[in-house]
Amino acid sequence: MTKVPLTAGLSFSRIIHGLWRLPDWNMTTKELLDFIRQAMDMGVTTFDHADIYGDFSCEKLFGDALAPEPGLRQKIQIVTKCGIKPVTKKYPGRKIKVYDYSREYIFRSVENALANFRTDYIDVLLVHRPSPMLNPEELAAAFAYLKQSGKVLHFGVSNFTPGQYDMLNSYLDDKPVTNQVEISPLCLEHFENGNMDFFLKERIKPMAWSPLGAGRIFKPETEQEHRVFEALTEIAEELNTDSVDKVAYAWLLKHPAGIMPVAGTGSIGRLKLAVEALDLDMSLEQWFRIYVASTGEELP
Ligand SMILES: NC(=O)c1ccc[n+]([C@@H]2O[C@H](COP(=O)([O-])OP(=O)(O)OC[C@H]3O[C@@H](n4cnc5c(N)ncnc54)[C@H](OP(=O)(O)O)[C@@H]3O)[C@@H](O)[C@H]2O)c1
Repeated sequence: MTKVPLTAGLSFSRIIHGLWRLPDWNMTTKELLDFIRQAMDMGVTTFDHADIYGDFSCEKLFGDALAPEPGLRQKIQIVTKCGIKPVTKKYPGRKIKVYDYSREYIFRSVENALANFRTDYIDVLLVHRPSPMLNPEELAAAFAYLKQSGKVLHFGVSNFTPGQYDMLNSYLDDKPVTNQVEISPLCLEHFENGNMDFFLKERIKPMAWSPLGAGRIFKPETEQEHRVFEALTEIAEELNTDSVDKVAYAWLLKHPAGIMPVAGTGSIGRLKLAVEALDLDMSLEQWFRIYVASTGEELP
């Protein structure tokens, strides 16, 4: 599979696997290791996590699965995120969710991640969400320390607007290597808020979360979902595939920004469809039919 170079010393697989839903898959440690191995055999080497996934359980489940095969660690890229403090029984006493990018909280999150993954480095740490209370000087100093100590090799952001990215970047030594945002045939927000233009201008390769609309493209309920499902199904027929998934992934992959879909499936067969979408070539007209089905309006 094509590797996507993001900065010196860092490339992601074009298709990334996301582990947010890991607890739903009810996999044993051995089944998860088999899944990781099969994903790697298909060229999927980048795995997306966050401290909060599975109520703070997913990083450790993944680390436990990798443990019997320590040689795999250096062949994969571990992405994780921090900063969201949800209300959870795990951390009693919190009255509401807050975002915390203080030096202490970031350091603690990274130490937890290193222990959970049983590794001594995280490939990429993402700021999970922008915060109205983010102190960029403090964050930049924390990043510099983590980089210098070798605990985190690279930094990125998630759910940032161009302005938020620019602001943080102005305090950092190295620009954030990616911005992970929601992009799918059901979510065109970043085509409309200037982010796509910004990615192209800055040569930032975005990661796309919920590339299949969190599974909603298969169970259409709203009018938009019905229009998109119909367009994807028609185009799947035209492209001689019975997989709506493949068409949705191919739609993301065709965009010139070099979108890297973060597939959230727990099925290795469905992850394979994402990989096969790399060979599915849709026409410009087919791309626009999906876009227009999503907006519900002809182009001006
Ligand atoms: N940065 C952020 O704020 C943020 C937010 C959300 C998610 N993420 C990341 O993005 C990743 C992907 O998000 P996501 O899980 O919402 O992605 P997704 O790929 O859009 O949705 C995955 C869901 O779709 C279902 N699905 C896939 N193919 C299907 C099919 N053919 N028929 C029916 N259902 C199907 C999957 O079920 P099966 O497992 O049964 O295939 C799974 O429940 C997450 O794991 C996480 O790493 C990041």
